Amino acid sequence: MQAKLLKKKYLEFFKKKEHAVIHSGSLIPEHDPTVLFTTAGMHPLVPFLMGQKHPSGKRLVDVQKCIRTGDIEEVGDTSHLTFFEMLGNWSLGDYFKKEAIEWSIEFLIKVLGFDIKDISVTVFAGDKNAPRDKESAGIWKSLGIPEERIYYLPKEDNWWGPAGATGPCGPCTEMFIDIGKRKCSPECKPGCSCGKYFEIWNDVFMEYNKLGEGKFEKLKQQNVDTGMGVERTATMLQGKDNVYETELFVPIINEIKKLANVNNFSHEQTRSLRIIADHMKAATFILGDERAVTPSNLDQGYILRRLIRRGIRHARLLGIKGDLCRPIAKIVIDMYKDEYPEFKEKKKFIMDELLKEEERFSLTLEKGLKKFEIIAAKGDIDGKQAFLLFQSYGFPFEMVRELANERAIKVDEAGFNKEFKKHQELSRKGAEQRFKGGLSEASDITAKLHTATHILGKALRKVLKNKEIKQKGSNITPERLRYDFNFERKLTPKEIKYVEDEVNKVIKKGIEVKKQEMDTKKAISSGAQAEFGAKYPPKVWVYSIGSYTKDICMGPHVENTSELGHFKIIKEESSAAGVRRIKAVLD
Ligand code: ALA
Repeated sequence: MQAKLLKKKYLEFFKKKEHAVIHSGSLIPEHDPTVLFTTAGMHPLVPFLMGQKHPSGKRLVDVQKCIRTGDIEEVGDTSHLTFFEMLGNWSLGDYFKKEAIEWSIEFLIKVLGFDIKDISVTVFAGDKNAPRDKESAGIWKSLGIPEERIYYLPKEDNWWGPAGATGPCGPCTEMFIDIGKRKCSPECKPGCSCGKYFEIWNDVFMEYNKLGEGKFEKLKQQNVDTGMGVERTATMLQGKDNVYETELFVPIINEIKKLANVNNFSHEQTRSLRIIADHMKAATFILGDERAVTPSNLDQGYILRRLIRRGIRHARLLGIKGDLCRPIAKIVIDMYKDEYPEFKEKKKFIMDELLKEEERFSLTLEKGLKKFEIIAAKGDIDGKQAFLLFQSYGFPFEMVRELANERAIKVDEAGFNKEFKKHQELSRKGAEQRFKGGLSEASDITAKLHTATHILGKALRKVLKNKEIKQKGSNITPERLRYDFNFERKLTPKEIKYVEDEVNKVIKKGIEVKKQEMDTKKAISSGAQAEFGAKYPPKVWVYSIGSYTKDICMGPHVENTSELGHFKIIKEESSAAGVRRIKAVLD
């Protein structure tokens, strides 16, 4: 079964069980500043797992774009991917274990055609924070999974989340398909790395909120969060033993082969092929996201840069010189544009950014190589020097090691890691600072900043006398708001001042903020502002600030503008061609 059909069948199955289909959320989590990327379907839904009402209801189903960067070094084997899609069905305080498990098994058997005899499951063994999940085991038994194929495993295996430091989480039950291989040892069981037991699906029962290390409380509601990896499952359903042989990668691999002009790919060259394919696909999705970032030395931008540069480095190993990224991105866009219409709008941006980064890396590559020669002429390379090559010239560590190997000198990896950790620790501290207090406490501040964002949008349209100005992206941390909008030039200091004054005037007036549920089409035809290029469910919330603004938004917001205090713009800059970015605070 091809991936597209798998996705279709999954959505249809849960639609019949009264789930509303929602579009994938952004790859850059809006509601959880403790993580850089959306690593699972639950990220965009965190506020709703915590109790906020979702405009599409209590039962949802989706295909979520995900990025996991923890495994970057493993990419190149048969299964590890940076970008993947995750199927998920959701209960937001609606059904719980019984229905979730019943539907999981129904889908596996009736839709995917598995034999119940080949299904094993794992459930949570229990610990001091939460009891042994006898309930799930009982449900599995009632559905025909015998005791000997139900395994109780500890928290490391059968507890999911939170994705960041705090937030919703809970015990999970995982389903495995025995693919018929012989047991690798008498102890071989689900979770074993030999591949006999293929992990196909995970049902998480999110009824806890992690407050900090070892501290949990019950959530307001019992939720279900499930996850099935599209690429992995499609590979298995097609009887292929590696994801790069499926339709999800073949066109990309073929394009790289064409560019490389190599006849027989060695093991190492095959690894390079896969790394390029994986990294370029992930980079295209990050740049094509509705909340796209650009390559930089910070946070998500830094991961993006690393993906692109590592891809380029491996392309050089295959003899590919120049214009690698764009031809591959074009293939990725063609493969996915119908499912992710945001690609159509972002195509030029993706191509421009990839070209810029490729050109930039070529520059630092030359300079970095010169620097490397100077360092290497003095002998072995210490951690600080390797880190300098990494930090200032964008050389991934393994590249420094390879270059050093060619000259028969050593690189101090432990020293590099120490420097790298120090750097990470600093960034982590920054992130923690931003997140101080956790999600729930932060929501007061974020609600204020959300409301300020709406006022800002209107103030910009008014002061710049341009009705066409629309939000092109926003990101809110407890510290500040970031607002992107379409406008061709830099704002003058006077304009910035007028915008600030206008926002503060509205705050002072103490206008009530009202929320209304509406059909999306009606909301738009009634003049509510929609975010440019955003996908909305059929029903949305519309927030109005008196007659001043009317915006489609998931909230949360304050009740009265007087709660906001004083608004100040701290930065106005370019974000992309034709897009300006404002950062502002409330003090
Ligand atoms: N959030 C769960 C996972 O990623 C479903 O496995």
